[in-house]
This record gives sequence, structure tokens and C-alpha cells, in this order.
Amino acid sequence: MKKVRWGILSTAKIGLEKVVPAMQAGEYCEISAIASRDRTQAEMAATRLNIPKFYGTYEELLADSDIDAIYIPLPNHLHIPWTIKALEAGKHVLCEKPIGLSSAEAQGLLERSKGFPHLKVMEAFMYRFHPQWLFVKKLIDDKRIGDVRTIQAFFSYFNDDPQNIRNKKDIGGGGLMDIGCYCISQSRFILSQEPVRVFGMLEYDEKMGVDRMASAIMDFGNTSSTFTCSTQLAPFQNFRVFGTKGLIDVEIPVNIPPHKATHVWLELNGKREEFVIEAQNQYTLQGEFFSKAILNNTSVPTPLEDAVNNMKVIEAIKESNLQGSWVMV
Ligand SMILES: NC(=O)c1ccc[n+]([C@@H]2O[C@H](COP(=O)([O-])OP(=O)(O)OC[C@H]3O[C@@H](n4cnc5c(N)ncnc54)[C@H](OP(=O)(O)O)[C@@H]3O)[C@@H](O)[C@H]2O)c1
Repeated sequence: MKKVRWGILSTAKIGLEKVVPAMQAGEYCEISAIASRDRTQAEMAATRLNIPKFYGTYEELLADSDIDAIYIPLPNHLHIPWTIKALEAGKHVLCEKPIGLSSAEAQGLLERSKGFPHLKVMEAFMYRFHPQWLFVKKLIDDKRIGDVRTIQAFFSYFNDDPQNIRNKKDIGGGGLMDIGCYCISQSRFILSQEPVRVFGMLEYDEKMGVDRMASAIMDFGNTSSTFTCSTQLAPFQNFRVFGTKGLIDVEIPVNIPPHKATHVWLELNGKREEFVIEAQNQYTLQGEFFSKAILNNTSVPTPLEDAVNNMKVIEAIKESNLQGSWVMV
């Protein structure tokens, strides 16, 4: 079977611990090489994950003509610059979320990518490939809970390490960028709509200068979605959709465990029905979908336009916090 030959840009934790092993378990992905700014780190990662080649610079990996696609789990400020370099080197790109630092930067990537129509680029919102979310979307599209009137999402964890990339202001840190992006993306995904205006309230960490708690209302016209995300709070995640006839409760919206079933509850007329969603690795599914799009030359499941629209909402929420009023998206 033909496989896509992948190169990994950096020894990021998410790559080494989750995404690379998950892709190695897929049928269409071959992890061929890894690069680090530190050659020794690259070698250690290659040994640990049984990756045949390693490089001491990202440039060397991009110059390898036996690599078809690049996975980019770099800090947020480097996502778009390295995505563009990878495209220029003739590689397809799967880039971590959020796609970049601003919607203007994301729009710039979208325009630039049009110069490489034979290459695929996608923001790595892995949850979209998990059967749980396809199930939830179908319940909503089938109007099982009537008309959706509002959504409530929550995502938090505790991490106040100033060395962590999430707590560095100048490289795209902050909770809204790191996890608020999921609450926004998931609301937009299941509603198949864009919010028209938003209201946001952010609390910043005084020392690190990054937002550590953000709450927002997104107005989708006939539906609203509210969420809170925080990087300095007890860990929790949940996603609930309220309709005119019932509600849907998603147990684990983002960090869906790969080896354990997850649950979705549908509540109609006061009766709660439990749906058990079998365990699946969302990172394997993501790698497989993207690789198949490359091998069959079909569209990627999530186009870059979607990434631009998600960034627009993040920006509008930050702007609303500054203005203290609603901001049009
Ligand atoms: N989809 C998901 O489930 C998920 C989960 C977690 C994180 N993420 C995303 O993945 C990305 C990486 O997150 P992470 O927590 O895995 O990051 P991390 O462990 O801090 O790794 C980032 C890597 O980037 C490289 N790097 C290059 N320039 C750097 C700089 N100036 N500062 C710090 N590192 C630099 C380093 O690799 P080398 O030293 O090897 O070059 C570093 O190991 C982020 O965009 C994050 O939003 C996604």
C-alpha cells in the first residue's frame, strides 16, 4: 500500500507523546524523519519513536526530497512562517492549532497557498475526525433536539509555568489561543454557521501578560454560544447543546481518550439516553484523512478558510474585552 512519507518539525510534546505514535498506527502514514533545533534531541526522539531519519535543523528536513508532508507542532508564532517554508519546499502541511497569530496572518497563508494548488494544508483540529463529533453533528442536523438555541462550553487546566509556550505572550500564548480556539471551532462546526458578533471578558496574568481566563458570548443570529476557558483553573471540559426539544451533553469534547469509550447523552422529555462512542484515536483518524486526501488528490476535510474564520472570532473576542462592548466578527 502506498503511504505518505511524513517529516515532523520539532520534538514538541504533543508530537512525541500523541500525534506521532498515533500516525504510526495508521495505514497511510509513514513517519520518515524528525527535526529539532538540537540534533541530539532529534536523535533521541528518532530512537524513542523508531523514526529512520533525524535532522539538526528544520531546513534540512524540508530539503529532504523523500518527504511528502510535514506536521508542524511548533509554538504558535512559528506555525505560518514554517507552513509557508514547507509549501515552498514542495511539501503538504498539517499544522497545529491555532493556525497563526492573527486572521490577517492566516488570510496571508490562504492567499499564499493558492500558489501551490497541488499541495494540501490543514489546521490540526483533530476532534473533527472523531466519531463522537460526527454523531453529535448528525443529532443536530437531524433536529433531534429541535432548533438549537444555545451552547455552553467549558475547557480548563492549570499551568502557570512561565517557561511553557502557552504562558509566553510574545509567541502567541494565552488560554484563548490555546483552548478557547476549540470552544469556538466546535460551536462553529456543529452549527455550520459563523458568529455575527461576540462579547468577551478576559483576565490576564499580571506577571506573564497572557490571558488566563476568558469568557465569551458568540451571537450566531438565531443561536448563541457561551464559553469559558482557563489555563489556571482546576481541569475540566464539557460541551452542552440546548435545543427547543432537548439537549445534548458531550462528556469529553477535546481530549477524547484513545483507548476508552466516551459518552454522549441525549435528553428528551426529561429522559436521558446514553450513547457509548467506541474508543478511537482522533490523531490517527486525522493523519489518515489528511494522508488519503494527499494520495487521492481530494480536498482536505477542513479548508484553510475555516482556520481564517476561527482566528477572526478569537480576535473579535480580544477586541471586545478591550472595548467593553459587542464586536462584529
Ligand atoms: N491538537 C492537540 O491536541 C494539541 C495539544 C497540545 C498542543 N497542541 C499545539 O501544538 C503546538 C506545540 O505544543 P506543545 O505543548 O507540544 O509544545 P512544546 O512541547 O513546547 O514544543 C514546541 C517545540 O517547538 C520547538 N521550538 C522552536 N522554536 C521554539 C521557541 N522559540 N520556543 C519554544 N519551542 C520552540 C521546540 O522543538 P525543538 O527544540 O525540537 O526544535 C519545542 O520542543 C502548539 O501550537 C499547541 O497549540 C495541540
